[in-house]
Amino acid sequence: MSDIVLSCEGLVKRFGGITATNNVTLNLRRGARHALIGPNGAGKTTLINLLTGVLDATEGRITLEGKDISKLAPHERVRLGMVRTFQINQLFASMTPLETLALVVSQHRGLGTKWWPSLGKDAAVAARAEELLAQFHLSEVADQRTEHLAYGKRRLLEIAIALACEPRVLLLDEPVAGVPAGEREELLQTVAALPADVSVLLIEHDMDLVFSFADRMTVLVNGTVLTEGTPDEIANNPEVKAVYLGHGEEAGAAPPPEGHQAASGGSAAGLPASSGANLHG
Ligand SMILES: Nc1ncnc2c1ncn2[C@@H]1O[C@H](COP(=O)(O)OP(=O)(O)OP(=O)(O)O)[C@@H](O)[C@H]1O
Ligand SMILES: [Mg+2]
Repeated sequence: MSDIVLSCEGLVKRFGGITATNNVTLNLRRGARHALIGPNGAGKTTLINLLTGVLDATEGRITLEGKDISKLAPHERVRLGMVRTFQINQLFASMTPLETLALVVSQHRGLGTKWWPSLGKDAAVAARAEELLAQFHLSEVADQRTEHLAYGKRRLLEIAIALACEPRVLLLDEPVAGVPAGEREELLQTVAALPADVSVLLIEHDMDLVFSFADRMTVLVNGTVLTEGTPDEIANNPEVKAVYLGHGEEAGAAPPPEGHQAASGGSAAGLPASSGANLHG
């Protein structure tokens, strides 16, 4: 069994004249806690959209467990174990976390989308839903309609839904963005406690989270991989410092938009400021 779970090679995505993804090669190791960072507009979300099949690549190849998945539809990639966090949609808004998770578990296990008989008849579905509720600090709100949940709880439910699909690879796009300070800690703890056998690719502007979470980091700038390395290597890389410190405009950086958490060190572009990561030189 290869050490690499998910891989992309020479990935290119053009939107008209914009090259959002420029010859990106990235390998996600088994069990990795891999962070993808870069300024706003660097192409991080586009890369996730290419990996999950929401967008078709202009060029390049994507493999999951050695199998070429470049041409597969999004749902086929999910079935093979690559799952991203879902935005809670209208369907889920009127359902409770318990109902939602029972539905997803039931559907994933091929038991159909009628969660109510599943919940009544299938003890295993109910047990798994309860387990996810506990793991994601949702037990006490299990019977409230999702639309009435606090924002942090909704983000927890999004990750719980993804885990209910039993992923090998989990792609998280800014899980703490916009979450109020009082709800952040619970979310950070939960992300830190994700199962070790699930390989995680995390996009995040909050450098406190990135540096406490990641064992590997890739820096994307203008659609291109600037560098990849351990958190220490990234924190001490002069080119990365240049992107985040002072030369941001040349490198395509912009201040974080509303809702993006800046690092607690208070630097201009949400750059690393903690965890012994000496990015301030
Ligand atoms: N559907 C699209 N059509 C045209 N251009 C797009 C489309 N999606 C993304 N882009 C462009 O591709 C580039 C990369 O955008 P992307 O959203 O991937 O960046 P990002 O790194 O996720 O940024 P952020 O940190 O702000 O979330 C940007 O210039 C963006 O305007
Ligand atoms: Mg994005």
